[in-house]
Amino acid sequence: MVQSEPALSAPSEATILETRDLRARYGEIEAVRGVDLTVPRGAIVALLGANGSGKTSTLRAITGTIKTTGTVAFAGKTLHHRCPEDAAQLGIAHVPEGRGTLSSLTVWENLMLGAYIERSGARVRQRCERVAAYFPWISDRKHQPAGTLSGGEQQMLAIARALMLEPQLLLLDEPSLGLGPKIVHDIFALLRTINERDGISILVAEQNATVALAVAHHAYVLETGRVAVSGLSADLVQNDQVRRSYLGY
Ligand SMILES: Nc1ncnc2c1ncn2[C@@H]1O[C@H](COP(=O)(O)OP(=O)(O)O)[C@@H](O)[C@H]1O
Ligand SMILES: [Mg+2]
Repeated sequence: MVQSEPALSAPSEATILETRDLRARYGEIEAVRGVDLTVPRGAIVALLGANGSGKTSTLRAITGTIKTTGTVAFAGKTLHHRCPEDAAQLGIAHVPEGRGTLSSLTVWENLMLGAYIERSGARVRQRCERVAAYFPWISDRKHQPAGTLSGGEQQMLAIARALMLEPQLLLLDEPSLGLGPKIVHDIFALLRTINERDGISILVAEQNATVALAVAHHAYVLETGRVAVSGLSADLVQNDQVRRSYLGY
């Protein structure tokens, strides 16, 4: 049976990503239950929610890492038969939960992996230099195995590797996980710089609502796979329900 696809808004230059009635399940568990979200081009959007609320599954559904129904449109075009390689080709870079850096490879080798779809070696090296400029320590430690970096450095390396794609949209899954407040602050400040300087749109899943709302322009709060609240970050910070449930004051 052919299911009709949920209607999207008219394609717009102003929207980089739009999902409509996005759903995903693991066997009996429906992890994503009809999520509609919009990432305006050039914006930082936070995807908030408690552990198990469906943040990771939503990001995986967008890139086609898990089987889904519903509609995903990127830069005004509906993505049919999504898979992670196609998403990368289109310019969607995904920094997965747990970072996904390869510990036995060196810092530089990890970085080069991020540009796997670029054929020209010269262009890859050029890109490496440009991306490494965001992370001054990388050049000094390029020969070090990635597994010997601190957690914060590994997260930075994962972001650097994603930037090697020269993405239009960067998806990040809980960049703060397991890291101390100082490095979390640095990472979010860096995301803002990347967003402002390179115009890369960002969708960041995060349990740490305080830090994410401070940097994101818009936010969605997930509860058991559904959007419970959404809006401008500045408004959500004032929202009593969001404050009580997610900001703890
Ligand atoms: N691989 C999996 N197999 C079965 N259930 C899963 C799997 N991954 C996640 N889930 C379930 O899906 C729901 C959403 O999980 P997840 O997307 O990881 O949430 P979050 O990232 O917000 O913590 C949870 O109930 C979780 O237990
Ligand atoms: Mg998660």
